[in-house]
Amino acid sequence: MHPCLHFQAIDSTNRYVKDNYASLENGTVVVAEHQTAGRGRLGRTWLDDGTSLMFSLLLKGKEIEQDPAMLSLLAGAALSSAIESLGIATQIKWPNDILIDGKKVAGILLEGVSQQTLEAVVIGIGVNVNSLGFDPSIQSKATSLRLASSKTIDKQHLLESFLAEFDRLSGDKEKYMAIVCSHSYLDGKTVYLSYYGENKVAKAIAITSDGKLLLEEEGRRYTVGSGEVTLEKTYCPPVQ
Ligand code: BTN
Repeated sequence: MHPCLHFQAIDSTNRYVKDNYASLENGTVVVAEHQTAGRGRLGRTWLDDGTSLMFSLLLKGKEIEQDPAMLSLLAGAALSSAIESLGIATQIKWPNDILIDGKKVAGILLEGVSQQTLEAVVIGIGVNVNSLGFDPSIQSKATSLRLASSKTIDKQHLLESFLAEFDRLSGDKEKYMAIVCSHSYLDGKTVYLSYYGENKVAKAIAITSDGKLLLEEEGRRYTVGSGEVTLEKTYCPPVQ
């Protein structure tokens, strides 16, 4: 059961859930038709064109005993499955993006709420659902479910399907990691990253069972746990 709050417009569903986590039940979903300050990863913004599915899922209590990075992969696996149930093939770009034919269709932003300890985790998800086109600056990198399927997609149905998959896979690490690994987009690709302040070029080998990205550089293998790797040489954001 997921209690659901629906807003016609709000600044950010992640911000709302973070500010109100204490009074909201574990598993609450906050959905918005419009966001005026949608948050993306690494300080970016999530642009609302009025056709995307935007929601945040609150997890607190026992649900967050596992590594938060794994929760993000769990959410990615659930979203990938929900989209695939519409007959659209997806890839998962470690750690947080869902792609169709190499173009981003959805992003996941995980935010924690900490006092002395981690009190809650907010999983924010934005999916390009019914967009018919994108700004020329991102046209080659973004897609929508409608562009990929030539069908208008029901956002509520997609949300319900995601929640059902999330609940089914939750706690079954083997199952959701099998989905993540079999859909991994980066495997075999050359990636660029900044690692402890050093710019690196490496080959992505696989996603490990504990959710890290295994890289190889001049025969030496190492893993990175979070942050971002990019397929473009010009941009090297930090990875811890
Ligand atoms: C990313 O790709 O950088 C992550 C984007 C996450 C966007 C969603 S939209 C609903 C939720 N509320 C927010 O402010 N952000 C997330």
